Amino acid sequence: MDKLIQDWDGEYVVCRFDHETKTMMFIAIHSTALGVGTGGTRLKTYSHPREALRDAMRLAEGMTYKFALIDVPRGGGKAVLSVPDGFDPARRERLMLRFGRWLADLNGLFETGPDLGTSSADMALIARHYSGVFGLPADAGGAGSPGPETALGVFCGIQASCEHHFGTPDLDGRRVLVQGAGSVGESLIHRLLEAGCDVKFSDTDPERVEEIRQKLDLPFVEPEAVYSEACDVFSPCATGGILNAETIPQLACPIVAGAANNQLDRLEHGEALHKRGILYAPDYVINAGGAIFLPAVEGSGWSVDKARERIRGIGDTLREIFSRSKQMGISPARAAEQLAKEKVGARRNDVN
Ligand code: PHE
Repeated sequence: MDKLIQDWDGEYVVCRFDHETKTMMFIAIHSTALGVGTGGTRLKTYSHPREALRDAMRLAEGMTYKFALIDVPRGGGKAVLSVPDGFDPARRERLMLRFGRWLADLNGLFETGPDLGTSSADMALIARHYSGVFGLPADAGGAGSPGPETALGVFCGIQASCEHHFGTPDLDGRRVLVQGAGSVGESLIHRLLEAGCDVKFSDTDPERVEEIRQKLDLPFVEPEAVYSEACDVFSPCATGGILNAETIPQLACPIVAGAANNQLDRLEHGEALHKRGILYAPDYVINAGGAIFLPAVEGSGWSVDKARERIRGIGDTLREIFSRSKQMGISPARAAEQLAKEKVGARRNDVN
């Protein structure tokens, strides 16, 4: 674990073990150059606490770049609640309350919202002890889950990617495969269907698969077959690390554009996609809808319409990244990182 921390260029890692729920809690703050460390709280079971820490650190870094590229004055952070296997749902409330109390003790070091495995209801529990929380339920004065807003940004990002690759943003008849039909994935599927796409989906949760099949009557792709399935756009909307040495050679699509955080197992996999001629929409760019929506609407009092207009601008940010990538002969992953680092760095110089 020490090596992990030494090799990271972030600012803080804070850790606490909650004995009562046997949960290892991590908060990683990657950069406060642009503002207070902000990001979602993820709840998941990991094979080892090291993996949870690694996830928190990488996700926090992604948040730094995400906020920089959307010009939202916040820093990058992430919390991970690494719950034991078979975590009893009855203990969830206790855990959220304890986590909220811990955040309050940390005096505003980290502000948070929903992420993979957490919901608006969890945020309401955290908010009992701590006010730096976004994504509260509407009846608690919040903007709710940002899933549908994230999906709007991903949809616009898919249009921009298609425009870059096929010469038109029109999605009518495009074959799109959505991996993961959670809150973002399902909302995205609805938008794609409305735009006339030929949509297939995959999910690892059998109950979820049944639900979507009944609601939408969509073709299902087995999780093992998802990478080699031929399509125009592969849209990963589940967990991270899925673009790696094993999956990239299998891909049978010209575009990867989806909502999941940390899709590239490592940054070099962005180069591998580029070499294969596959257009990759960098995850923290295309999935920034929630990060725009929550702080803007709840934190800065923007109207929902104004926030949505801004989310549609994600398409333009991607166009800028794709054209930089083309001009400089580098991958879009590298181009996005360069652009984000320039923004964070410029601000760092301002401050000093
Ligand atoms: N978890 C989401 C993200 O990674 C939404 C979020 C944004 C949550 C900002 C909290 C703060 O973008």
